[in-house]
Amino acid sequence: MERFVMKGGRPLNGEVVIGGAKNASLGVLAAAVMADEPCLIENMPDVRDTNVMLQAIEGIGGKVERIDAHTVKINGAAISKDNTVVDDEFIRKIRASYYLLGALLGKYKKAIVALPGGCDIGSRPIDQHIKGFTALGAKVEIGHGMITAEAERLTGAHIYMDVVSVGATINVMMAAALAEGRTIIENAAKEPHIVDVANFLNSMGANIKGAGTDVIRIRGVEKFHGSTYAIIPDQIEAGTFMTLAAATRGDITVRNVIPKHLEAISAKLNEIGCTIHEYDDAVRVDARERTLKNTQIKTLPYPGFPTDMQPQMAVVMALSEGTSIITESIFENRFRYVDELARMGAKIQVEGNTAIISGISKYTGADMVAPDLRAGAALVIAGLAAEGYSAVENIELIQRGYEHFEEKLQDLGASISLVDSDKEEQKFKLRVV
Ligand code: UD1
Repeated sequence: MERFVMKGGRPLNGEVVIGGAKNASLGVLAAAVMADEPCLIENMPDVRDTNVMLQAIEGIGGKVERIDAHTVKINGAAISKDNTVVDDEFIRKIRASYYLLGALLGKYKKAIVALPGGCDIGSRPIDQHIKGFTALGAKVEIGHGMITAEAERLTGAHIYMDVVSVGATINVMMAAALAEGRTIIENAAKEPHIVDVANFLNSMGANIKGAGTDVIRIRGVEKFHGSTYAIIPDQIEAGTFMTLAAATRGDITVRNVIPKHLEAISAKLNEIGCTIHEYDDAVRVDARERTLKNTQIKTLPYPGFPTDMQPQMAVVMALSEGTSIITESIFENRFRYVDELARMGAKIQVEGNTAIISGISKYTGADMVAPDLRAGAALVIAGLAAEGYSAVENIELIQRGYEHFEEKLQDLGASISLVDSDKEEQKFKLRVV
């Protein structure tokens, strides 16, 4: 079975180029099927989740032409009203294939999509998606593991989201963009990828204003035309490498980023004791010879601290002096990595949605299992900070969202390798002693 093996304990230094945002691409790729002309999507990360989304699009009759690893042409013209069933197989692999629900409902006024799964980080209801579609005039039914949304016509509505939801905001925004009349989404999520999907929809002819604030105003249009669009850089991939600098007491510059999207992460790393330099499209985290101090974080919707950075930050906090506290306010089951970190010596006590972390001076290498995508990346960071050898299994979860992870880490000086047998692991250990 494939796993990462590594020998840690040394500062990692250098530059890393960040790819396109996974979560933005998932919305943009789904939205691309709404046009009957080709859309050229650039800066798409070549990761498992985006590839599954492309397969799902092909599965409903969309034409997908891979220009290169990061560029894809999508044409939704061949999808027919009767071909709007998105199979279980895809939804089980990636939760975000439910974006096809909003996209297809908007375009064909009918969509049938399997109920979503996704990372096991807590119960993930979809009531706000359903509330939004219903307000637009769709009849939404759930049965046999599928959601069916159907409407004679979609009409603009005033929708108040009871919880701030990235997924529901994107899904309802897509459907409303091809509804008749005006829609207002209040208490909308403000994440950078909401803005990215809105910009893409606008580039196809939609009329969406206010994305990035908590009120989004949409004037429905009749149809979309083709477009060429480049995805924004990945905030979470960038943040992951920033915490890597802190955990290994290194000096890493993340390039091709939007520093504003990283402000919550930069502020916390600064508070902990790292020096942060911001440039136009890069951020440098210098943690060389620093003594890291305790802090507190509470995960919140953007612009608050992202829940997708919580495990990586915990790895740094566990190496910081004093007692640090994490409050996870978005998902209830996001501390499953704690037992794995404990194997490396971390002292973390979880009570409900709070983790109390007593700092230690160093980790000791251990064999670990990735519980989900971001926690998996966090365990790799811990392994690279730890003394001795570590291994992380279940790396297909990490590959859902990180492209060429081990190569990027190697370029920063990490001793890490992807192996798929004990023999290869032994070879790695002999090579890096
Ligand atoms: C998206 C991201 C995920 C990130 C999360 C929070 C994608 C593909 N995934 O997930 O990486 O961790 O945002 O930033 O972009 N909720 C409801 N009812 C709903 C929808 C959500 O109660 O109908 C709740 C959820 O249980 C959760 C909170 O709202 O507590 C936020 O979830 P949401 O923003 O919808 O997350 P996702 O879109 O699934």
